[in-house]
Amino acid sequence: MAKKTFLSGIQPTNIPHIGNYFGAVKNWVASQNTGEMESFYFLADLHAITVRQDPKAFKNQTLNCFALFLAMGLEPEKSALFVQSHVLEHSELAWILGCYAMFGELSRMTQFKDKSGAHKEGEANIGLFSYPVLQAADILIYNADFVPVGKDQKQHLELARNIAQRFNSAHGETFKLPEYYATPNTAKIMSLSEPSKKMSKSDSNPNAAVYMLDSRDMVIKKFKRAVTDSEALVEYRGDDESKAGINSLMSIYSAATGKGFGEIQSEFAEKGYGDFKTAVGESVADILAPIQKKYNEIRSDGAFLESCMKQGAEKASAKARPLLHAVREKIGFLQL
Ligand code: TRP
Repeated sequence: MAKKTFLSGIQPTNIPHIGNYFGAVKNWVASQNTGEMESFYFLADLHAITVRQDPKAFKNQTLNCFALFLAMGLEPEKSALFVQSHVLEHSELAWILGCYAMFGELSRMTQFKDKSGAHKEGEANIGLFSYPVLQAADILIYNADFVPVGKDQKQHLELARNIAQRFNSAHGETFKLPEYYATPNTAKIMSLSEPSKKMSKSDSNPNAAVYMLDSRDMVIKKFKRAVTDSEALVEYRGDDESKAGINSLMSIYSAATGKGFGEIQSEFAEKGYGDFKTAVGESVADILAPIQKKYNEIRSDGAFLESCMKQGAEKASAKARPLLHAVREKIGFLQL
């Protein structure tokens, strides 16, 4: 039986944080290592330019993120790890799919409404509008079965399915309908400063998130400042909003140490939040240390990074090319 295909992308606009790691990348690595799925992971640089990027910083940041993915454990031999803009098929299919996407459905995308709301009337760029069409191309061009993404991206996945269905009904079975994949057993990691919100890479408050490249001191300091409650009780109460801070810290500590909530609760039964926060900070810093060490080695080896990027792009292209060929044929493009 053919292996199922797993696919996800992340914008290289900021260094991933521990929420991205514990909630996503760590699971990608585990699934890569079981070898049960064929996986495609990429840096969505085409999506990133929907917001103006400084070219020099953008290049640097894309390299940083790529090196970090390798340091977090993704392996070019086991997964296809690549930069989206290196695989030209994404852009071509995006144009084609744009002709099968409706103005109305794109206008209803929550992310577009949120992001375009920040611009003056009529001044949001078209890339922001057609962002989900490119995302549909990213997914459909690999015939992905499962797309592990956050809940905020679920709507874009639904749209990808609708576009695929529309194309299939016009031209016959071409694209597989991808499924949303809610990664099991992942830690729900919230902002350290506003625990009712998810930890986010784009949070303007630098203390809200712990980034994968933060120094040990910085990590410990950020956890010390984390917002909790006044109950002074390390106890997990998942549906109690007032415990959102402690719930999240317990989730992080559990993800970092492998301890269960009950065990953590008894470990800190006689202790205050100060001790608990220090322990969380140290456990996270311990997880980050070897990743950062590996990152520094990889990041300083430009030739190695480039060869990994090439390997990933070739793997991805090899899978994307035949499908794009079939699409061109079905549409009636002359092929040379
Ligand atoms: N839009 C996704 C995000 O911001 C990133 C992304 C781009 C993506 N293309 C994708 C995720 C394809 C999954 C599949 O998180």
